[in-house]
Amino acid sequence: MGEAERFDLVVIGAGPGGYVAAVRGTQLGMKVCCVDKDAKPGGVCQNVGCIPSKALLDSSEYLHLAREHFREHGVLLSEVKLDLRAMMARKERVVRELTDNVRTLLESNGVHLLWGTARLVGATRVEVTPGAPATGPVLLDSRFILLATGSEPVALPSAPWDGIRILTSTEALSLDSVPERLGVIGAGYIGLELGSLWQRLGSTVTILEAMSRIAPPADAQVGRALERALRKQGLVFRLGTKLIEARPAEEEVKVSIESDGGREDLAFDRLLVAVGRRPLTRGLGLEDVGVAVDSRTGHVRVDAQYRTSVPGIWAVGDLIAGPMLAHKASAEGIAAVECMAGLPGEVDYDCIPSAIYTSPEVAGVGLTEEQAKERSIPYCVGTYPFSGAGRARCLGRADGFAKVLAHGRSGRILGAHILGPRASDLIAECVLAMQLGGSAEDLAGTIHGHPTLSEAVHEAAAAVRRCSIYAPRP
Ligand code: NAI
Repeated sequence: MGEAERFDLVVIGAGPGGYVAAVRGTQLGMKVCCVDKDAKPGGVCQNVGCIPSKALLDSSEYLHLAREHFREHGVLLSEVKLDLRAMMARKERVVRELTDNVRTLLESNGVHLLWGTARLVGATRVEVTPGAPATGPVLLDSRFILLATGSEPVALPSAPWDGIRILTSTEALSLDSVPERLGVIGAGYIGLELGSLWQRLGSTVTILEAMSRIAPPADAQVGRALERALRKQGLVFRLGTKLIEARPAEEEVKVSIESDGGREDLAFDRLLVAVGRRPLTRGLGLEDVGVAVDSRTGHVRVDAQYRTSVPGIWAVGDLIAGPMLAHKASAEGIAAVECMAGLPGEVDYDCIPSAIYTSPEVAGVGLTEEQAKERSIPYCVGTYPFSGAGRARCLGRADGFAKVLAHGRSGRILGAHILGPRASDLIAECVLAMQLGGSAEDLAGTIHGHPTLSEAVHEAAAAVRRCSIYAPRP
């Protein structure tokens, strides 16, 4: 092993937490190295998560529209067929373009991108086993080390993955044929998105969920309406269901479940296990250098500036507590590097949006109505249906509603929740309003273009004080 190369900042992990932090480091004058075990930077998000799933969801949505909705717009097609191979190839192309963009972004900012597996061997030292064969380990010395290695799927001992019949989301994004019967364990983000995807492509999808509701972090009213909409599309939900065992066989996978109705045996062609993710710390050398980890959750412990228990080593993203979302990781990556540079970097955890890319989409920010109740916060609610927004009618996407929660006395926005077309984009103005400490009146007093989907958000905000011109009278 040769001499260690010196850096100001070594970032381990080139996902949305790590690569963004690396760029911010160079902007602040640091000499930065970013190491990733995958040859294609971008992490789970770009390679096997957010991006490929949205590429396929968008493609499957076009298929669904062509089959079910073009006719009502007067567009007649003689035949609509699925070419799964072409759909997958397009998804791969989107992934490749975006991971190439991350590489170019890093290199054009002067970040030294290193392909290899990193391990901490001291508070200021990292050993990298290169990804390219036939080269020996590389030593890096750095004033700051940022851990951003992300997360991995939680395994279910009763349904161990075999990559053929029992799948993680990674395999479920690359199937070479449409399974006739797809079972999904978990009605969270991944289960709902990938369940919707394969249902639109022709699978009969059954989602088994331990809790009595779907999409647990979402506002309950939104969750119920989403469940109704997805059931109408043909997804089958088995709620309050406990998985006893899944056994892969030659032609299918047999699944035993238990619910109020007793014990039951089901059979699927494929089974997707999507019961959450956990921090990926294996092989990172945390114990060797003394980085403290929460023994229950596996999260790396950090202070408000993202410093771990070892001076000089910092951590962000899915590795630490909080929602496992790419944009949360990026915000933390920037804040951590700014703190290293002595700047006041921070993240406003009350203003992190989340979205589920089903159809209709779900998006939310801030408190749900249940959380406001639990915390005994006085609140007022305004809701408005998309069926009352002209643009949603023109699009033929009038399902769902917008909901704004405001403090009962100050009117300050506590949370906003949207079920409807492009909810993931529409939530942005609610996030901004919250970030600026705005009230429902501020949103209601903001002129929204007509005809736009955003008018539903505007009317929901106005409905908080019963000032919506269009909302139905209570
Ligand atoms: P999740 O935490 O969203 O949902 C897991 C679901 O599985 C829960 O509803 C839970 O009650 C259920 N469950 C757990 N054990 C079970 C069992 N034994 N039997 C039946 N049900 C069981 O986790 P998911 O969907 O795997 O996603 C992982 C993470 O990835 C999420 O935390 C999310 O932050 C992130 N993600 C975000 C996306 C987005 O922003 N659109 C998309 C996909 C993932």
